[in-house]
Amino acid sequence: MSDNWWREAVIYQVYPRSFADANGDGMGDLAGIRSRIPYLSALGVDAIWLSPFYASPQKDAGYDVADYRAIDPRFGTLDDFDAMLEAAHEAGIRLIVDLVPNHSSSEHEWFKAALAAGPGSAERDRYHFRDVDPAKPETPPNNWQSVFGGPAWTRTPDGKQWYLHLFDSSQPDLNWDNPEVHAEFQSILRFWLDRGVDGFRIDVAHGMVKAEGLPDTGGDGTIEMIGTTRSPFFDQDGVHDIYRTWRPVIEEYDGDRIFVAEAWTDSAERRALYLRPDELHQAFNFDLVLAPFKAVDFRKAIDAEIANNAGVGAPCTWVLSNHDVQRHVTRYGDGPIGLARAKAATQLLLALPGVVYVYQGEELGLNEVLDLPDEVREDPTFFRTNGEQIGRDGCRVPIPWKTEGPSLGFGDAAGWLPQPEGWSEKSVEAEDGVAGSTLEFYRQAIALRKAHKASGLTWLDEPSADTLAFDNGAVVCVVNFGDEPVSLDGFDGEVLLASADLAEGRLPAGSAVWFAK
Ligand code: GLC
Repeated sequence: MSDNWWREAVIYQVYPRSFADANGDGMGDLAGIRSRIPYLSALGVDAIWLSPFYASPQKDAGYDVADYRAIDPRFGTLDDFDAMLEAAHEAGIRLIVDLVPNHSSSEHEWFKAALAAGPGSAERDRYHFRDVDPAKPETPPNNWQSVFGGPAWTRTPDGKQWYLHLFDSSQPDLNWDNPEVHAEFQSILRFWLDRGVDGFRIDVAHGMVKAEGLPDTGGDGTIEMIGTTRSPFFDQDGVHDIYRTWRPVIEEYDGDRIFVAEAWTDSAERRALYLRPDELHQAFNFDLVLAPFKAVDFRKAIDAEIANNAGVGAPCTWVLSNHDVQRHVTRYGDGPIGLARAKAATQLLLALPGVVYVYQGEELGLNEVLDLPDEVREDPTFFRTNGEQIGRDGCRVPIPWKTEGPSLGFGDAAGWLPQPEGWSEKSVEAEDGVAGSTLEFYRQAIALRKAHKASGLTWLDEPSADTLAFDNGAVVCVVNFGDEPVSLDGFDGEVLLASADLAEGRLPAGSAVWFAK
């Protein structure tokens, strides 16, 4: 395994609830993941990022952690974890785990102790508690709104204090002004580093530090996580001090281990601050998640990221889908055109210098499931907005592995969310070894990317305004974002990979091609 692997890796996000269910309880588990390591190996990924599997009441699908050092029984045991990690390492695949430091679950021992201990106690100081004003008992301490909808404050059961939760009321925010919180998370980092993990994805990495005095935000206090602007609770400069204390911890361990930030910022400049040499290694670039499928928007996002990350010596970290956003096939129009554009965008990403994250199921061309019945939904967004926002369950539907079975090979029982019509044809079994399938396209693209490593990016004259063309030092990539085919006259060299048929030397609408240099 090479040094600095993380500057050019392809990293695959596994969402444990929905990847593979070995024990047939309808929910994915660690043994299921372990059984699929050969699949990930054949896909050619360098590492796995695993969403949370810790002990949790699952009010936010595990992003509500009750014990940071224990595995939730739904997912298995610590032994299962060790066995999975070993199998991944044997296959040459690294493992990044999710760390959730902004908030714990309300079932965490600390929060239970805080409620028991009462106002003014050291236990309450680990979270953000504020007194209820007897003159205005219904008015929270400030106007902050939860990212999932409704106020960011809930009253304690005795009605005397409020506590802060930027997310669900079952996810109280930790107080990062308290040294005990710092010490505890350093210890948690070491716990998993000692077990051999290769890094951490830091959840809400821009959220831990709150502005002094918890001042009101402008407007009505509503701040979206996705597409956020800076606020008294997001992207405060103080978060950087935390990362400067974490970096030396991870550096003590061998093996080039990393931190990747989930930091929603309002500019590439602000994002790059997380990547200064004494802070974190990678930060997801969400600009392409937010961008429409348009040449001009992609180019703008790519240029900003490359310029800003070069300034701090960090790799660009590209992503199109994850467990929080609508799958890119659907964002780009769904159906055949959505899938065509999704493959083209993926092929573009895989030609860029830097790191690419792939979200489980995108390699099968899975679409967002928009019509889940309300009864099966679990995302707190759905409940906290009274169904106004359907939430994120539609990108979390269990993976179809086989063409048949109660959950299409996800497990021996129905999965925790039903799979839609049509997913049998998108299953691994249906696509494996089939020329032209999305799975074979991903396998080929990842293998070619490894064989032809990008060293930079130079824009070339594009054949039309809806097209991007660039040279990455190893391949020339042309992407047609428009609705009409464009001529490829003037581009030559062996065609390494095309996401659609290049009939008559033309690049079809919503497709991409790589030429060897
Ligand atoms: C992050 C996670 C998301 C979770 C939230 C609260 O955005 O990706 O799934 O709901 O943080 O932990």
